[in-house]
Amino acid sequence: MHRPALLALLGTVLLQACGPTPTEPTAPAAPAPAPATYVLGNDEHRVSPLAQLMRDMTAFADSTKARLATGRDLPPYPAGFKDMLTAEPTPGMVDHRTYDPFAFAYLHQLDSLYRAPVAARREVFDGLIGACAACHGEVCPGPLERIGKLRSDHRAGTTSKEQDRPIDGAAH
Ligand code: HEC
Repeated sequence: MHRPALLALLGTVLLQACGPTPTEPTAPAAPAPAPATYVLGNDEHRVSPLAQLMRDMTAFADSTKARLATGRDLPPYPAGFKDMLTAEPTPGMVDHRTYDPFAFAYLHQLDSLYRAPVAARREVFDGLIGACAACHGEVCPGPLERIGKLRSDHRAGTTSKEQDRPIDGAAH
C-alpha cells in the first residue's frame, strides 16, 4: 500500500531532474531575492552547461519576442546555440537518440527565422518556440509552462496548438 509514497518519490526525482528552475519568468542573470533557499537534504542542484545554455536560449527567445512585437530587428544570430548538440547535460538528462532529432529541428528552425522575410518572422518564431516545446514534451516537461509563455501570439490566423492555456496570475 505504499503506492502514493512511491509516486511522490518518482515525482521528486523528475522534478529534480528537470524542474528546478523558478516557475516565474525571472531574468536569467538576476538571482531572485528569495528570503530562503530550499534545502531538501540533497544539494545535487548544479547548473550543467546544457542547462545554462537553455537559460541563454530562453533569454534569447524572450528578447526576440519583445523585439518582434515592437517591429525591431532580430538580435545577432546566436551561433553558440549549436553547442546544444554537445554541451554536457545534467547526468541522465539526455539520451541522444531521442534528443538529437529535436535539437536539429530547433536549429533548423532558428536558421529559418533568420532567413524568413520580415512579415513572416513572428510565425516562424512561434515555430521555433514549438521546437522548444516539442523536445521538452519528450525529454523534460518541467519548463513547458515557461516555454508556452514565450509564444508571440502573432495574429496571422493559424496559430496551431493550445499551448498557452491561462496558467497563473503571473501575467506581467
Ligand atoms: C533538443 C531538446 C531541447 C530543445 C529543442 C530545447 N530544450 Fe530546453 N532543455 C532540454 C534538456 C534535456 C534540458 C535539461 C538540461 C540539463 O539539465 O542539463 C533542458 C532544460 C531547459 C530549461 C531548464 C534550465 C535550467 O535552468 O535547469 C529551460 C528553462 C529550457 N530548457 C527552456 C528551453 C527553451 C526556451 C527552448 C527553446 C528556445 C528549449 N529549452 C529547447 C532539452 C531541450
